[in-house]
Amino acid sequence: MWILAVILHALYYFSPAYAANSLPVLFGGGKPIDFGRYCRDGRRVLGDGKTWRGFVVGLFFGYLMGLLWYFLSMSGPLSQTYYGIDFRMPDPFFGLYMGLGALLGDMLASFLKRRLGLERGQRLWGLDQLDFLIGAAVFAYLLAPTFPIWQSLVAIAVITPLFHLIGNFIGYKAGAKSVPW
Ligand code: CTP
Ligand code: MG
Repeated sequence: MWILAVILHALYYFSPAYAANSLPVLFGGGKPIDFGRYCRDGRRVLGDGKTWRGFVVGLFFGYLMGLLWYFLSMSGPLSQTYYGIDFRMPDPFFGLYMGLGALLGDMLASFLKRRLGLERGQRLWGLDQLDFLIGAAVFAYLLAPTFPIWQSLVAIAVITPLFHLIGNFIGYKAGAKSVPW
């Protein structure tokens, strides 16, 4: 059951990154981060999918999520070690680091997509699913003293695209999508 502990730890540790990446979908909008500017290639720097409001909302919820885990892990089940995996959230600002990394990773991906000639919302499999996780992992590694164990990193990198595939397949079966991926 070590693997179950690894998976749970991965979802728990990366939850602030998930929050920072998904809440802007609901509450984003308004002024784009690039202020509508174009690069020399004639395409937007980031595009209308990256907004200031989305950024602030993502950062706020990422921080909140991390703070919640920080307090909950001071005592009770989250203050324990399972199969050698320590579940304590080490830092009250961990969610802020994760959120910032997630949002910047997502922005970097949009920048790269625009340079590749992809319009806002056009998909790039792999990068779209992992951009925010890579950003979050880098920031957590740099800013938080105790980083999620490497097993969590591998687990989350596998689980996340899997979630997307399952979600897309359900969407396809439900008739909301025209392709199953
Ligand atoms: N969003 C936002 N601000 C951000 C990040 C996301 O407002 N900093 C909102 C936007 O409404 C965006 C949605 O969340 O459309 C989904 O984000 P994402 O999939 O990253 O953007 P895309 O629209 O797919 O654009 P891109 O091609 O640049 O990834
Ligand atoms: Mg996208």
